[in-house]
Formats: sequence, C-alpha cells, structure tokens
Amino acid sequence: MIQVRNLSKWYGPVKAVDNISFRIKEGEIVGFLGPNGAGKTTTLRILTCFMPANSGSASVAGHDVFTQSMQVREQIGYLPESVPLYPEMRVREYLNFRAKLRGLAAEARQTSIKRAAARCRVTDFIDRPIGHLSRGMRQRVGLAEALLHDPKVLILDEPTVGLDPTQIRETRNLVKELAKEHTVILSSHILPEVEATCERTIIIAGGRIVASGSPSELKERITQSSRLIAEIRGPADAVKSSVGGLNGVGKVESSLTDGWNRLLIDVQAGQDVREDIFKLASKQGWGLREIRREVASLEDFFVQITAQQHIDREGQSSN
Ligand SMILES: Nc1ncnc2c1ncn2[C@@H]1O[C@H](COP(=O)(O)OP(=O)(O)O)[C@@H](O)[C@H]1O
Ligand SMILES: [Mg+2]
Repeated sequence: MIQVRNLSKWYGPVKAVDNISFRIKEGEIVGFLGPNGAGKTTTLRILTCFMPANSGSASVAGHDVFTQSMQVREQIGYLPESVPLYPEMRVREYLNFRAKLRGLAAEARQTSIKRAAARCRVTDFIDRPIGHLSRGMRQRVGLAEALLHDPKVLILDEPTVGLDPTQIRETRNLVKELAKEHTVILSSHILPEVEATCERTIIIAGGRIVASGSPSELKERITQSSRLIAEIRGPADAVKSSVGGLNGVGKVESSLTDGWNRLLIDVQAGQDVREDIFKLASKQGWGLREIRREVASLEDFFVQITAQQHIDREGQSSN
C-alpha cells in the first residue's frame, strides 16, 4: 500500500531524512517511533504530498507521491501534528467546509460528515464551537476530518500528544478500531504508544531507520543482548576474573554492596552461563545469593539504539 525508497530530505544544511526505505502492506497498522527531531513529521509530510523530497521515491496505493499528488491525496487521510482547527467554527461547519474543499457535492457531504462523525464519536458535540471543545474532542474532530473522503490510508502524526490519560486511551481505541478498515501509519515519540496500538514498529532516529519489527521481534533482539546480574561473596578480584573467564562471558563489571560482589555480566548471544556460575561459586566455596537475567525493556532498547544513532551522527558531523 505504501512504498518508500531511498527517501532523503534536506532543510538547508540539515539532513532531516536520510535515505529511508520501507513498505507497508494493506491493512497494516504501523508505528513510526522516534525521538523529537528524528524526521517523522518530515517523512509523513512527504508521503502526504505536503512537500517534496530531495531524492528517492514514494508511492501510496500505486500512485507516485511526486507526480500523482491528486490521486495520492484521495487515498490518504492525514492528521497533522497540530490540527489546524478554527475555534469560532462549529464542528459541523468545519467538517462541511473541509468536505467542500475535498470536492464533495452537498448530498455526499451530508452522508460523509454523518458517517465520519459517528465513527469518531463527535456527533454529541457536532453543533458546538470548536473553541469550546477539550483537546481530546478536537483531536477526534481532526480524525473525523481525515475520514471524510473514506481514504484507504490514515496517516496520524503524534495523535495523542497533549492529551490526558483518559483521552489517550480513547484515542488509542479509536485508532485501533479505524485500523480494521484502513491502513494506518501513526507516529509517536513514546514507546508504550506504539506498543499498545501497532502490529509493527519502525524506529527512526537521526533521520534513519535503526530497527523495525513487531514488538515481540524487537524484544527478541533485546533478550539476545541481555546481561546477567549475580551477587557473589568472595575475594573481589578472584570472583571477577573467574566469572570473566567462563565460556560465553564477555565483559564483567563488579561493585561491592554490603560485603557482596554485585556483578553485571555481559553474556554472548544464545549463551546461558547461569549454571556455570553456580558451579564455579560452589566449587570455590563462595556465597551466591542472586543470579538472574537482566531483561531490558523495549524502552531501554529504544533509548540505547537512538542514543547510538545520535553518537554516530555527532561523529559524522565533526568529521
Ligand atoms: N521547516 C523546517 N525547516 C528547517 N528544519 C526543519 C524544519 N522542519 C523540521 N526541521 C528539522 O528536521 C529534523 C526532523 O524534524 P521532524 O521531521 O519534525 O522530526 P520529528 O517529527 O521526528 O520530531 C529536525 O532536526 C528539525 O529541526
Ligand atoms: Mg514531528
């Protein structure tokens, strides 16, 4: 449904999007996750024909974003980062105005406003001025607007930013519901957001894609690089070097807490050395009071890879 190939975008000297490629299949709900400044909005604006890229290509439902922008716009409902609503307009007026811009005839406008309003639950306040609505309600008006022409693809840029927890939950549920009938891309800088809503996540940092996969695939990558934590009582140097000498063990960090050596042990992928550590301790007559895997969260993983990308970029720009 969406194909992006080697897309790059510069703002003057700033490379906001750096050779990005990805594909999204019909019916998927994909999270575009990255810290602020990662290039999410820029990529989404290119996909929605709001601005051109400097190089690369992109297509939506088979139409080229650069040469067939009218056809692409027909296929896309776009909820921008800050929804341009007019506070003095009533919701119905606003939706009618937007539907006119979409070129819908009077009768079609009535039907599509009714349908979109019902789906986004704005019917209850459809005759109220937009300026009187809460942020969550306005966000739903924005979503209703994006749905007026019943597009195949929904592109939502940080749809829950600035909402309170209840509104966030409502918006997430609504997005999930919409995803049953539309292909959805949703950007976010917070991981639990995409974890809760999306089947697949594309992680972007510094304008590049640094990882992608389902939440469970991403978690798999974390477990492979996980560490062990062990607490052993014995001579500090001997404990550290013997554990470090075990097969499959990488770096070992050691610190002393109330008489115990607390070890952070890097373990090579696919290895489990917990039993070896236990045997070592008992052979040496050392106490062992804890041994467990340090399971990094998806959050840690996200922080780690985005930080790495940041360091890489800094390095590049100083070269
Ligand atoms: N209109 C603009 N002019 C100049 N630089 C911009 C503009 N919009 C975004 N940028 C820069 O491009 C990079 C990516 O921004 P953006 O796509 O908005 O990221 P995100 O949506 O992930 O926060 C940032 O470094 C940002 O400062
Ligand atoms: Mg943004």
